[in-house]
Amino acid sequence: MNEILCQNDAFTSAWYVVARSIEVGAAPSKVTVLARDVVLYRSADGPVVAAPDRCPHREAPLSLGTVQAGCLVCPYHGWTFGEDGKCIDVPSSSEGVPPPPRAHLQTYHVTEQYGLVWLCIGEPADPIPTIVQEADATFRRINTPVEVWATSATRMADNFLDITHFPYVHVGTFGRAQDTRVPKIELKPLDEGWYGYEYEVLANNSDLGSLASGQTAGVVERAMSTGFNLPFNVRSNIYYGTGLTHIILMLSTPIDDVTSYFTFVIWRNDDFSVSAEEVIRFDLAIGAEDKRMLELVPGVLPLDQTSVVSVQADKCSVEWRRRLIEWMNRPPAVRLERAG
Ligand code: FES
Ligand SMILES: [Fe+2]
Repeated sequence: MNEILCQNDAFTSAWYVVARSIEVGAAPSKVTVLARDVVLYRSADGPVVAAPDRCPHREAPLSLGTVQAGCLVCPYHGWTFGEDGKCIDVPSSSEGVPPPPRAHLQTYHVTEQYGLVWLCIGEPADPIPTIVQEADATFRRINTPVEVWATSATRMADNFLDITHFPYVHVGTFGRAQDTRVPKIELKPLDEGWYGYEYEVLANNSDLGSLASGQTAGVVERAMSTGFNLPFNVRSNIYYGTGLTHIILMLSTPIDDVTSYFTFVIWRNDDFSVSAEEVIRFDLAIGAEDKRMLELVPGVLPLDQTSVVSVQADKCSVEWRRRLIEWMNRPPAVRLERAG
């Protein structure tokens, strides 16, 4: 089995977040997914267009070009591409001479959901994960910046499924109050295709934490569920005794094997009295703690079960890796069938 993400075609069939919707405008920009550079821009009538960031003529980066009248213009010799990638103008050609057929750009599947731009550089085989609270008016959604982490998406998903690092990595935020021992983990299907486990934790609740939890006690109880949606999406739901529900969707995109985009999205049913900026400051601080740790660990997390040692508390990550390998080995026909 080839464990390197960028060389395994299975990963090209997934949707990945590459930007917040508000960040993609009419000017072209570059993102990188699975080591492929992609140019993104927003077309005149609204949809985001994504295509390889390489001009078919002499391979100039189209992201350094311009968008004129909704068409992408290459910075090198001015070849011009319409929204569907069709080359509509080769300025050096005499009038009436059509662009050669191979001058057209292949465009990628791109869509927007949860305030984010999702890209699939192959044929999408699975839907974008569902968060039902998106359609619930008692919840508000808060988006956060897309960051670049110098770590593998495999290490990120593994980390977000793991609660045993809380009392070590997260002592600066909420982890100090937590028992290091973890009760027996029972995995089960959660709602909407998420798979994972439910548990209770005590969270240290000083300063920033109290803004997020809506409580002032020094330590608060959280009932939680954490689960995954393949390949690298992780969701943690936090339920406080007050009725406050705080959902965190953690999204990791492989830029290459050992570099990733990370963003998270919050949904919460609070009274909106705390500003979005204040709410996310706590979770951003927690994310920075994870980033600091993960960037110290080199390479891709081995996906086989023998290269690294796991214990009962790692059960969810072990199951995620088992299912990820199954997912990677699905024949392409199965991937397409499920997509339909
Ligand atoms: S390289 Fe793009 S037009 Fe020549
Ligand atoms: Fe963490």
